[in-house]
Amino acid sequence: MLAESANTIGILSEETINQIAAGELIDRPCSVVKELIENAIDAGSTVVMIDVVDGGKQLIRVSDDGEGIPPEDIRLAFERHATSKLRTVDDLWHVRTMGFRGEALPSISAVSKVKIRTMREGRKTGAELTLSNGLPGVLEETALSSGTIVEASDIFFNAPVRRKFLKTTPTEFGHICRTVQNQALSAPAIHVGLTHNGKRVSDFPAMSNMRDRVLQLFGAPFVSDVGNVCST
Ligand SMILES: Nc1ncnc2c1ncn2[C@@H]1O[C@H](COP(=O)(O)OP(=O)(O)OP(=O)(O)O)[C@@H](O)[C@H]1O
Ligand SMILES: [Mg+2]
Repeated sequence: MLAESANTIGILSEETINQIAAGELIDRPCSVVKELIENAIDAGSTVVMIDVVDGGKQLIRVSDDGEGIPPEDIRLAFERHATSKLRTVDDLWHVRTMGFRGEALPSISAVSKVKIRTMREGRKTGAELTLSNGLPGVLEETALSSGTIVEASDIFFNAPVRRKFLKTTPTEFGHICRTVQNQALSAPAIHVGLTHNGKRVSDFPAMSNMRDRVLQLFGAPFVSDVGNVCST
């Protein structure tokens, strides 16, 4: 029997809380891809390029031509519950963006090594920041055209059990392909491209409407089948 003073229940450390929260959002490489594409879409991008190495286990890079992040906000973007998309509880009723929780970047940086380069529209210089274990390094100036490039490498390098449960490269890459397809479907007006180990795998130029995007992604037989089902 435990001594009366020995607590069985304790509050977790901040680091443990962050690791657990990150694991809920990021459970495999395709979760990183999903979150980064959503951020690119929310930033008003017209072109989003995704480059992955080894099924995303070694590297995931998402580059966009969106509005970018002001240098003074970059560190904040990696704090939990930090977002530009929501201010008050009432705003929850009018969310128009894909993200709003302020959880994605801190979660990704808690489970991988992150490098972000970003150039805010209208600014003269861009900025670069690297983070490991969620901890930011020194913010540096960098030359970049407007937009943002986020690289997440060595996913789960600090969570060996999760790393061990990652599947083979083709399986993880298959999940990424489906994620990219789904995101491309949700935003027909954006040009989306994907490379794997340096080779171009998908290229979906911008489409003016959803029907053309579906045609582009799934082909004419699918569109005519869906059309038939809808008209019966
Ligand atoms: N590619 C990007 N371009 C411009 N701003 C970005 C980009 N990615 C992130 N940001 C900025 O960083 C903030 C934090 O991003 P993060 O993904 O962590 O949270 P969120 O998108 O607000 O919410 P959620 O956690 O639901 O995705 C965003 O609110 C946005 O202001
Ligand atoms: Mg987000």
